[in-house]
Amino acid sequence: MLLGEKCQKEVNVTDLKVRMGRLELENPIIISSGHLTRTGKDIKKCDRYGGGAIVMKSSFLEKEYEKVVRPYAPGLFPDARAKFYSTGDGYLCICGLSPLPVEAWAKWFKDSIKDIKTTVIASIMAVSVEGYIKAARMFQEAGAEAVEILLGCPLPYLLPHPYVGGASFNPEIVREVLSEVRKAVDLPLGAKLGFNPLDTSPLEIPGQLGLDWLTIASAFPAAPGINLDKIEPEIPSSVFLTGSKVAKHANFVALLNLQNQSKDMHISATGGVQNWEDIVEYIMYGAGSVQIQTLFYRKGMGIIEKLKKDMSYYMDIKEFGSIEEMKGAILTRLISFDEVISTYKETRGKIVVSFDQEKCTDCGLCEEVCNWEAIRMVDGVIEIAKDRCEGCAVCVCSCPSGALGLENMESIRKIVRG
Ligand SMILES: Cc1cc2nc3c(=O)[nH]c(=O)nc-3n(C[C@H](O)[C@H](O)[C@H](O)COP(=O)(O)O)c2cc1C
Repeated sequence: MLLGEKCQKEVNVTDLKVRMGRLELENPIIISSGHLTRTGKDIKKCDRYGGGAIVMKSSFLEKEYEKVVRPYAPGLFPDARAKFYSTGDGYLCICGLSPLPVEAWAKWFKDSIKDIKTTVIASIMAVSVEGYIKAARMFQEAGAEAVEILLGCPLPYLLPHPYVGGASFNPEIVREVLSEVRKAVDLPLGAKLGFNPLDTSPLEIPGQLGLDWLTIASAFPAAPGINLDKIEPEIPSSVFLTGSKVAKHANFVALLNLQNQSKDMHISATGGVQNWEDIVEYIMYGAGSVQIQTLFYRKGMGIIEKLKKDMSYYMDIKEFGSIEEMKGAILTRLISFDEVISTYKETRGKIVVSFDQEKCTDCGLCEEVCNWEAIRMVDGVIEIAKDRCEGCAVCVCSCPSGALGLENMESIRKIVRG
């Protein structure tokens, strides 16, 4: 893309600082909790790359781990395993748990956090309210700067436990855990919640309870593809799909529903960031930061510097002086479904397909997908009958050479905005 290409030359990184509740981060790109943050050694590695923060791999108190995980998966602790399969758009993975219990992580914070320059956020999960409180207190006492509560880890053996597995779908549990931990510690506190896009109401609870941030995490249960040669599943089992753009668009639904809250509360979004454009889109939908994992498996954490440069370049040419200025920029410009419908009569026959003969390869796909007989192949050449076109844009999306577009899309905006 032109913006990205130019950006490789000389770009000053804009001030990308963000406030995440009481935390101040150098930039909105957070290395999320996961495979890359499993131990203190991993955190030290992450520290080299200039992220705004690092979230440690979520951890249980040792006693709770012994009760819940050990009987089910005796080999998982301390040698947590992860197994990955690339879908092309994302990864399917079976993720293990932190090889360190909260007690060991707390000791690491006490001894080593002074050597790390990036903000490190402790991440906790527990099977009881008491467990969450105890873990948060341990991290506070160990000198952690902030804690994120993970409610809703979809590992199969955690699902039967109401306070961890599907906890984020249960508003009573979300409220109980978050309010009790909020009362128990006074360091910056965030909650990472999975959600159902059809009912995002539990996501409103962290804001009501005065938490410092909410992390929205749409994670999709997913099953593996098939190795057709061996007639075997690509991986023996799988838990969820990460890194996929599908997650980004599901998170947009949550951001839309939370738009009144995002002015007052920091929302961190996690899922499907593949490039700087995804980060900017998230911010324009009202997120204050993004938490990324899968992209770093693909491109390495060195990409953080490039993401910062590319974002800065974009912000510079679009005259956004800060992330805060760019935040929510699209929310006031969105056009509702009803508004679009209300323009149908006026725009009929005006929003129609446009065609660039030079790009066309005469493959004929547009003719095949057109429902309106507006595109015809005549003697191997495309002919367009604009008067028959309904402007559905299926042909535009299908055209492999980018020869088709829609003209007069602007008219919808003009009519709605007067
Ligand atoms: C292998 C793996 C392990 C993960 N472990 C955790 C975890 O312990 N705690 C947590 O909050 N999120 C965990 N996640 C979720 C990521 O932090 C992130 O929210 C998710 O992968 C979506 O971001 P992405 O699309 O950039 O990967 C894990 C993800 C992966 C792939």
